[in-house]
Amino acid sequence: MIVGNDPTGRIQRVVVVGGSLAGVAAAEELRQRGFGGDVALVGDEALLPYDRPPLSKAVLAGEREVTETLLRPSEWYDEQQIDLTLGDAAVDLDVGGRTVGLASGARVPFEGLVIATGAAPIALPGAPPLDGVHTLRTAADAEAIRERLATARNVVIVGGGFIGAEVAATAAGHDCTVTILEALGAPMERVIGTTVAELCADLHRGHGVAVRTGALVTRLHGESAVRAVALDDGTNLDADLVIIGIGVRPSVGWLSNSGLAIADGVLCDSCCRTGAGGIVAAGDVARWEHPTLGSVRIEHWENASRQGQSAARALLGEPEPYGPVPYVWSDQYDRKIQIVGDPSEADEMTLVDGSYEELRFVALYGRAGRLVGALAMNRSRPLRAARSLLADGVSFADATEAFNSTEVKSASRRPGPTGVQ
Ligand code: NAI
Repeated sequence: MIVGNDPTGRIQRVVVVGGSLAGVAAAEELRQRGFGGDVALVGDEALLPYDRPPLSKAVLAGEREVTETLLRPSEWYDEQQIDLTLGDAAVDLDVGGRTVGLASGARVPFEGLVIATGAAPIALPGAPPLDGVHTLRTAADAEAIRERLATARNVVIVGGGFIGAEVAATAAGHDCTVTILEALGAPMERVIGTTVAELCADLHRGHGVAVRTGALVTRLHGESAVRAVALDDGTNLDADLVIIGIGVRPSVGWLSNSGLAIADGVLCDSCCRTGAGGIVAAGDVARWEHPTLGSVRIEHWENASRQGQSAARALLGEPEPYGPVPYVWSDQYDRKIQIVGDPSEADEMTLVDGSYEELRFVALYGRAGRLVGALAMNRSRPLRAARSLLADGVSFADATEAFNSTEVKSASRRPGPTGVQ
């Protein structure tokens, strides 16, 4: 097996570091492409790799257990001859010696390496370690929050991004007050722009969630357990459960002495290859040269899966530029929000389908005359059309016109399988 960018030749042993979606996708792709050598997967969590999207929704709501959301059943790893090391974090990488050091002290040799360590939540700056203050990234986090939620009276969520919005929607079903504190003008405003972000704020308010924007937390009060959240305008909000969802940082600490280039993620070329031969990266941890978007790091589910596959192919000597149209979805209450492309920093936007009042629509986003993104709320089919327009790199005007054409309209009127069109 030829190592993608390694002039030294053949690999017989691949180690995947990171036991989540990107890592599992990479391991699976290696086998699907006929790689017959050893594949080892190392993860810091003790559980079998599981799916993260349900954590902020069904798992938090108590509707599903994490064991019901495994990415693959345990037998699959045996069948695929993927050697699992779980509950042991990678702590260093020796590129020259071709080994990964683990917290247990073990050193794992590799010929090819997939870096898929994901990202970790950012802590609230200066906040003391009080009981009742949580971030949400892992199954253990979700289970701990779920337990607290059962008895919580006042839930305060710091950050109105994807985590904050989804947790608020789940918590709103409980017998407690729920407040979102968002630093910007509206939840998810940075990603989806003011118009739709304000609709989302209203969606939360309609479900009894208080949304405070331009809110800056100055202090968490409490002795051992959190009691209140202080804001810069002098307000003190009672709180017995605080969830911090103010973003994540790529998990690159273990690579700090490796010599790999790191800058808000592991730097990769367009084919997910780092500068070191036989070492690739994928998922939240990877910052790569997207063929059309430039240097990007994408933190979404679909990207983790597809980039894991792409990185594996590069390792097997089949590199190809990885240039997806980004896609993310978020379920909040009975609304499904889907975003393709990158609507952040758009300088124009137009509604092309449905209506804002019904919270059932598609909006297109443009920048400098080009289509850069689209957002659909409870509409799926027209978004597919937007995705192909984005892949074609069309102008904003042409995209708007295409949406007004009979073809996109009639496709969008056919009901989808779940009632979401
Ligand atoms: P995020 O980046 O989506 O949102 C963070 C939010 O917190 C932003 O709205 C920001 O303006 C706000 N913020 C930042 N600092 C603040 C402060 N000090 N006080 C108040 N607000 C502040 O990050 P989030 O929600 O933590 O999600 C983490 C990761 O998980 C993201 O990569 C996200 O894409 C991913 N995720 C994706 C989901 C999905 O695809 N549906 C669901 C849940 C999480």
